[in-house]
Amino acid sequence: MHELNSRIAGFHKLGIQGRLDILKTKCNLDSTAITGMLNTGNLPPETADHLIENVVTTMNIPVGIATNMKVDGHDILVPMATEESSVVAAVCNAARQCYDTGGFATSMSGSHMIAQIQLVNITNPHFCRITILEKKEQIKKLCDDCDPVLLSLGGGFQDIEVRVIDSASGPMVITHLIVDTRDAMGANAVNTMAEQLAPLIEQWTGGKVYLRILSNLADRRLARARATWTCEAIGGTAVRDGILSAYHFAESDPYRAATHNKGIMNGVSAVVLATGNDTRAVEAGAHAYAARNGRYASLTHWEINASGDLVGSIEIPLAVGLVGGATKLHPMAKTNLQILGINTAQQLARVIAATGLAQNFAALKALATTGIQKGHMALHAQNVAMMAGAVGQQIHQVANAMIAQGTVRIDVAHQILQDL
Ligand code: MEV
Repeated sequence: MHELNSRIAGFHKLGIQGRLDILKTKCNLDSTAITGMLNTGNLPPETADHLIENVVTTMNIPVGIATNMKVDGHDILVPMATEESSVVAAVCNAARQCYDTGGFATSMSGSHMIAQIQLVNITNPHFCRITILEKKEQIKKLCDDCDPVLLSLGGGFQDIEVRVIDSASGPMVITHLIVDTRDAMGANAVNTMAEQLAPLIEQWTGGKVYLRILSNLADRRLARARATWTCEAIGGTAVRDGILSAYHFAESDPYRAATHNKGIMNGVSAVVLATGNDTRAVEAGAHAYAARNGRYASLTHWEINASGDLVGSIEIPLAVGLVGGATKLHPMAKTNLQILGINTAQQLARVIAATGLAQNFAALKALATTGIQKGHMALHAQNVAMMAGAVGQQIHQVANAMIAQGTVRIDVAHQILQDL
């Protein structure tokens, strides 16, 4: 570890160059490292500097296009930002195998977000609950006055829900503001409303409000997708039954369900990131939703239909938007949205759900048949070859030699490179 002092007064006030100068000295960065950091790729440094704090550079992630996707009767190209090999290929393969049965049919429960207001220090929580519920019209007006633009777009306040919960610090009254945030992810809109409402709730109840923040368990913003894979398209009943058994494994065992859902999120998060949306919000919501029945389980369901074909479905909270944050500011997010050719946040969420389902199909099929390593190794071998220093043609030569030997390891790559 470096021996350095991390207290750097005024670091945030410096420009990128000023911060880099400090970093160079403190961390002994050579000129190659600094030149690399000055290259911010397709995100202009001034934009990056406005997106987060203390910016020194950007970091590129590959964006691949998932082909073969048909969603609600329309062919669509899906940009996916991920550092993991095989993820994009998996979606392409899964989508190809259900293309002839019509691809993915999708739907959405709505675009409603929930903001929570936490009221404490009350001895009569149920009385307070009813008092707050009585104020619905006043609350609606306050919320809608917070965001006239959202209102003009057909969104805004929808309802309130007031829950009494028990906690280690006594009873709490939790007010949920339910707001249609339309094409916005909605965090800013609902957080503002919750903050504005908080003093009134204190006044009405005599209690004390602490937290005023949206819930990432966006279970009023559920995206759904389903697709049919014929037995023939996937290679017969043994493959179908293997996929079904893998799904039953995930349904019965949280250790497996975590990996199963991680595979789904490989697809989901890649599109969320490619469109400049908040991957952590979506991930938190997805995993909380997967545990909604008291036990962590699969986000997808796999069944066999009357014709003996495999049918898959997914239901997942997807709080994504087309306006606000990086979605509007990152040039690549804008381009990726253009590639997708979608016009609403709901359409985006539905495509993302379809991508998650495709990803899950591909993973389960690979796992139930040849295992994932075979497909993974070709790309992984290339990565290892590059890590060993292979460039240009050498990358394929070294990778192929490692695959032929059946051992993909950095020391083997070094040896092969030397022999070349
Ligand atoms: C790897 O990133 C994802 C998988 O582990 C998913 C799964 O096991 O279902 C292959």
